[in-house]
Amino acid sequence: MMKMTEATPSLFEQVNYPKDRNNMTDLEKKHWPRIECPDTVEANKPFDVTVNVGVGIDHPSELAHFIEWISIGRTEGNLEMCRVGLSPKFSHPRATFRVALDKSTTLVARESCNLHGIWENKKDIKVK
Ligand SMILES: [Fe+2]
Repeated sequence: MMKMTEATPSLFEQVNYPKDRNNMTDLEKKHWPRIECPDTVEANKPFDVTVNVGVGIDHPSELAHFIEWISIGRTEGNLEMCRVGLSPKFSHPRATFRVALDKSTTLVARESCNLHGIWENKKDIKVK
């Protein structure tokens, strides 16, 4: 079994997702970003998007193992809209961004762990 405090080189070769969302491993539960925001928003009206790292298990925030950054973007033009950098020990892997959309899109949340690479989740947003 893999130790959680060792880097996993294969995870740095791609953007990572849980292999089975209904049966996630502890590694997947600790790293998968959750997107919290309305399903439907008004065009060009700012709204909050919160990204939490981890599903039922908190990710460590230690010097040896921490989340380096969290970002939110959209699929059109592969555009990253916001990114926040995190410091180990003094911050925890959660960020709220205020964004506005001009048309329906798919939001893309990403986080980067210093030992386990980049993890991604997506959420469709309808703009009315
Ligand atoms: Fe990690």
